[in-house]
Amino acid sequence: MSSIKIGWIGLGKMGNPMSQHLINAGYPVAVFNRSKEKEDALKAKGAERVSSPSNLIQQSDVIIIMVSDDKAIYDIFSGAEGLLRAGVTGKIIINMSTVSSAISKEMALLCNQQGNHYLDAPVSGSVKQAEGAQLVVMVGGEKPVYEQVKEVLDHLGKLTLYVGETGAGNATKLAVNSLIGFYAQGLSEAVIFANQNQIRTEDLLTVINNSALANVFTKFKGDAILNDNFEPAFYLKHIVKDLGLARDQGLTTPLADTAYHSFLEAEKTMAEDDMISIFRHLSQSK
Ligand SMILES: NC(=O)c1ccc[n+]([C@@H]2O[C@H](COP(=O)([O-])OP(=O)(O)OC[C@H]3O[C@@H](n4cnc5c(N)ncnc54)[C@H](OP(=O)(O)O)[C@@H]3O)[C@@H](O)[C@H]2O)c1
Repeated sequence: MSSIKIGWIGLGKMGNPMSQHLINAGYPVAVFNRSKEKEDALKAKGAERVSSPSNLIQQSDVIIIMVSDDKAIYDIFSGAEGLLRAGVTGKIIINMSTVSSAISKEMALLCNQQGNHYLDAPVSGSVKQAEGAQLVVMVGGEKPVYEQVKEVLDHLGKLTLYVGETGAGNATKLAVNSLIGFYAQGLSEAVIFANQNQIRTEDLLTVINNSALANVFTKFKGDAILNDNFEPAFYLKHIVKDLGLARDQGLTTPLADTAYHSFLEAEKTMAEDDMISIFRHLSQSK
């Protein structure tokens, strides 16, 4: 049983299974989610519910955040009952959401001014990897602070890697997710091209998945295309957000530009579907 008191904010598709690993590892965990019903599963596993981020930080040593975007981070830090309203010191706040390096730098500064610490620690992997504690965690911020909480992060994934100063975790994650966007678009275009040439999707995917190109992504997203299954594991709206953040941070190369506009167009009708819905979008618009 660890004595580090964890406060967890954000119990969506990722935060829910991730926070459960810390309960299973024996940490005392308190939770806050904006929509209260998402706290039920954690309460049933022994977590305490807390009414606001401000109350949560008062009773926790380490606060972990897993929410949608920069706007959610603003609300959680600077809202009326936000983390920065609590007037506490010595806390470590770990932001695992996929957000911009800019907001991490801004929030880290505000935390430091109050005598608290901030790490950006976004993850690679989706819901399946979150459930199996197989995520890859990339961390930016003060290295000695990272070393204090590495044992906590190690319960969430198969690899935790320190990559540099504040915002470096976010920049690494945006590079990775841009590549995911390129993969999804590329896989979709290859399937569409093969179909136009009377090649069955199943046969193309069998070749890809037995070739040097085979990876977990082509396997799972290939199966999704084959089975017409666009149930969201990773929302299409979230890859649009990530390509947009990377663009804002300087990624304006040809592939990035194409993928950004392509996903942006798909978002008009498929925002809440899985990101591999880009296949349906490209099929419809060809
Ligand atoms: N899903 C994936 O495959 C995946 C993989 C790697 C990284 N990520 C990243 O992980 C993060 C979470 O993704 P997810 O799939 O778990 O998303 P999700 O299921 O949509 O959950 C989003 C969470 O953010 C909260 N939230 C949103 N706006 C808020 C606000 N203004 N104030 C307070 N809370 C707010 C939501 O609260 P409510 O319940 O009240 O809406 C919910 O807890 C995102 O940054 C995403 O890009 C996702």
